[in-house]
Amino acid sequence: MSQRLVKTQREMEGRFEDVWALVDDEDELETWPEGTELAVVGRPATRQDGPVRASGVARYTVDVALPGMLVARVLRAPTARCRARLDLEAARSVTGVRAVLGPEGPFTMTGDPVLTAEPAWAGQPIAAVAADTPEAAAAGLAALAPEYEAVPPLALEAGLEEQRFTEEPNEKLRGDPDAALADAEARVELTCETPAHVQTPLEPHAAVAAWEGDALTVWVSTQGIFDARKELAKRFGLETEQVRVLAEFIGGGFGGKQGAGPEALLAAELARATGRPVRLVLTRHEDQVVGGRRAWTRQTVTLGARRDGTLTAVELAAVVDMGAAGMVFPVAEPAFSLYACPNVRTMTFPVRTSLRAQNAFRAPGVVEGVTVLEQAMDELAVALDLDPLELRRMNHVDRDQATDMPYSSKRLLACYDRAAELAGWSTRDELRTARADGLLRGMGCATQIWWGGGGPPAHANVRIDASGRALVTTGIQDIGTGTLTTARIVAAEELGLPLERVAVRGGDTGPNVYAPVSGGSMTTPAVMPAVRSAAGKARKTLLGLAADVLEISADDLTIANGRIKSKDGALDVEVTEVTEKLGNATIDGSGTRGPNPEGFRVNTFGCQIAQVAVDTGTGVVTVERVVAVHDVGRIVNPLTAASQVEGGVIQGVGYALAEELLVDPTTGIPVNGHLDDYKMPTIVDVPEIVVDFVDLPDENLPNLGSKGLGEPPIVPTAAAIANAFAHATGRRTDALPLTPARVLEALA
Ligand code: MOS
Repeated sequence: MSQRLVKTQREMEGRFEDVWALVDDEDELETWPEGTELAVVGRPATRQDGPVRASGVARYTVDVALPGMLVARVLRAPTARCRARLDLEAARSVTGVRAVLGPEGPFTMTGDPVLTAEPAWAGQPIAAVAADTPEAAAAGLAALAPEYEAVPPLALEAGLEEQRFTEEPNEKLRGDPDAALADAEARVELTCETPAHVQTPLEPHAAVAAWEGDALTVWVSTQGIFDARKELAKRFGLETEQVRVLAEFIGGGFGGKQGAGPEALLAAELARATGRPVRLVLTRHEDQVVGGRRAWTRQTVTLGARRDGTLTAVELAAVVDMGAAGMVFPVAEPAFSLYACPNVRTMTFPVRTSLRAQNAFRAPGVVEGVTVLEQAMDELAVALDLDPLELRRMNHVDRDQATDMPYSSKRLLACYDRAAELAGWSTRDELRTARADGLLRGMGCATQIWWGGGGPPAHANVRIDASGRALVTTGIQDIGTGTLTTARIVAAEELGLPLERVAVRGGDTGPNVYAPVSGGSMTTPAVMPAVRSAAGKARKTLLGLAADVLEISADDLTIANGRIKSKDGALDVEVTEVTEKLGNATIDGSGTRGPNPEGFRVNTFGCQIAQVAVDTGTGVVTVERVVAVHDVGRIVNPLTAASQVEGGVIQGVGYALAEELLVDPTTGIPVNGHLDDYKMPTIVDVPEIVVDFVDLPDENLPNLGSKGLGEPPIVPTAAAIANAFAHATGRRTDALPLTPARVLEALA
């Protein structure tokens, strides 16, 4: 028997859980060793769906239009904490309104009401209508004639006074940090607030639902089609195969689009009530206010060190604005793990407030933690008159300090060296003193740590037909990263086919080929080994058939660039010489993702160096350049890998300089929920971004040696920028982003 179930651990954004994993012994391909000459992997490839995206042909959820489709709109709480009274019957009698769902209705998901008459946060859904036209839907909402009784919101400070912390354990301890701090030869303390940061995907949250009898089809802009299917099946009491979830093109998620979401649940409910397809697309304003956010934090980091820079103590106290619900992300992880230190205490104080729950946003928790810890490290470097990069090298650690496990691979020192070289780190002090154009310039660095090892389950199928072309079927939802093209590259490499002869399908639960959520930087490390395994099996079958047709032993044959060759070179034919004999038959291979090896921690690492210019007259900070060097194992597609880094850096620039969701403390209303007042970077704000990778396989990971890259690039950017600002000016702000007002205040 070649298939077994084994107990293993699965990791998602630093949370570990025990799972059973299906292992197929026939899947055990070796990782291509370092230095292997590969035909397709590691070479830049444009996206297979580039032309349809660029030409506007690609159909995103917001583009789906079905005959007879109704439009849905949601009534949302105008303030935090109120009680609503509605006239549901009046709304139902509006011309063109086909269904109204009110808070008294049966609509719940896993026990939590999606619609509520007692909302806890501004923007929380209270009721929903489906109507023939947007105008009729708006009239239906108006006819609800909501009356609100206000309940005072929980401001952050009120929350603190009332100690509204969650039940989660909030202290982690190693060694004796109190004694170590008391004895430290050098000690620095730094407090900094980090902003509430909105994911702002280009495509807002959206869903279209249609019923045919008892079968439900839902298009949803989601990072997890299989999670969405599970939620919808559970909600409506359907079998798995009665629910089909589609997300072929997705305009970004960044953590904020998990599972079905309220949109898909509401659209499906309204579609069932009306017997017609229903579309629910959030407006940009709705998306900014209810789509989610990275939590605001206030963190104090205290570092103790010897005079030579060796860390002896790290202490972190982090207050995290959780909003109305949600879980605590690993804000404390960098303080606990990033540097070698025997004495560490981290304390996290999650505070409940009258805001929408914070949720995942690209490396949630770790971005916040690194942003403050790495500023404190630079303050320590200043206090000890050490080079900041040298301080980091000196405190490098080879093992995960929480578990004492070795890392599966770690090439952070190479990242430091390469980043320093590319940034011209040795000219850092000349840069500061030049001041040719009246601007103050500085250069700062920061270290990246994150997970991203992926794991089971993930599956893939590869089918070769008579034309000698391969179709890869996966459950990947490509949230904009180009990950379908990554699968194409891996399959083409293993099959020995040119890229053009391989196509990849994803974004559809219909074929029931599972891929995990596009989150936790796991798509490449989780799915691509399954793709390679599936291709490996199809290739083996193809070579066996070639042996029959060509009357030569399969062991003497290879496939490269679409040709089957004998090892002695005597035979060299097109793959189609063999595949055309298939007629209407196909060659099928299926692969599954086995577990990660026991006894290791799988993490990603990197270093970014930012150069900024500060105008002391206006307070404007310009990021001139960011050098980003990351170690994520083998790079499958350098082109889309560089895109990931560019996107992460640009989001990091926004976090450092301008993005900040502001909330009126008396009403709990987000006051800048539009793109003209919530300031995202535009093309004029984008620095020169220099990208490089260590690009060596992690030989402990199954069959490919690649880790994830979705999240790592945003982790160190804001810290590097804040450190460059401090280098330029000798000052720090006590809160990010570095808005002109804060900068002028710091410089005064
Ligand atoms: Mo998570 S922020 O969806 O990777």
